[in-house]
Amino acid sequence: MGLLEGRRGVVTGGASGIGRGAARRLAAEGARVAIVDVDGDAAAKVAAELDGLSYGVDVRDTDAVREAFDDAAADLGGLDVVFNNAGTGSIARLHEYDPAEFKRVVDVNLLGVWNGIRAAVPHMLAAGGGSIVNTSSISGLRPSPGEGPYAAAKAGVTALTQSAALEYGSRGVRVNAVAPGAIWSAMTTPLLQLGEWEQEWTRRTPLGRIGDPEDIGDVVVFLCSDLSRYITGQVIVVDGGMTLHGAGIDGVLDFVMGMVEGGQ
Ligand SMILES: NC(=O)c1ccc[n+]([C@@H]2O[C@H](COP(=O)([O-])OP(=O)(O)OC[C@H]3O[C@@H](n4cnc5c(N)ncnc54)[C@H](O)[C@@H]3O)[C@@H](O)[C@H]2O)c1
Repeated sequence: MGLLEGRRGVVTGGASGIGRGAARRLAAEGARVAIVDVDGDAAAKVAAELDGLSYGVDVRDTDAVREAFDDAAADLGGLDVVFNNAGTGSIARLHEYDPAEFKRVVDVNLLGVWNGIRAAVPHMLAAGGGSIVNTSSISGLRPSPGEGPYAAAKAGVTALTQSAALEYGSRGVRVNAVAPGAIWSAMTTPLLQLGEWEQEWTRRTPLGRIGDPEDIGDVVVFLCSDLSRYITGQVIVVDGGMTLHGAGIDGVLDFVMGMVEGGQ
């Protein structure tokens, strides 16, 4: 019997990368899963693979997120586990950030997580408990140059996680976060395949490899399961030890700006 047999879940950003890896692991442990993603077609493909549900929704849309979660809960018969994972990033110097891009990055990564918490909590309170996991990042704990709005939003995810843990713990709802290091995904593959970044980040990682989405998915399973029943308000760093060096993903700004400015 799986660790999550009979649980009902939602994964945002579940159409790709870490979200898809986590959705597969949740399903493998017995959960039924709904995928919420702005890419509705890709979400439908993952849902079909897992015998789940899918919703083409932008996590910045507060009402649409609530509608999707309500619909998923009605269809699945409740909501026990939620992985608020949808996210996006970009690289620029702070004083050169386009204001609309700054807002987009903050809204997807931070407002999107609040929208998920807001939509999930009523179902969990009604059922007497549940587990919410949010995706932060090592960048939210130790920013690297060039990722200002992303790092600020991810630090905000930590604060939001702790606030929610405080507000709902006594009513059976646990809220934690994962902070991935360098993980293969649609977000990172283009960078990792440029220049020497795969070798460089591998060299900076004590465990000696770039992570796979399932490396995060297994921690999400743990945080959603009863194995973590006495854990709430925590941010679990899953980075192969990368931040032990304190370096994070430093160097990306110079590399990207060098390419952009060199190409001009
Ligand atoms: N890959 C890494 O190295 C890494 C490291 C730290 C944190 N993260 C975080 O992990 C999460 C997943 O990223 P990933 O690496 O799997 O990238 P990814 O691009 O493979 O997956 C992101 C998913 O989120 C969806 N998405 C993006 N914007 C959305 C929106 N507005 N509404 C709904 N869905 C949206 C995308 O369609 C995609 O399916 C993000 O929060 C990211 O910040 C990733």
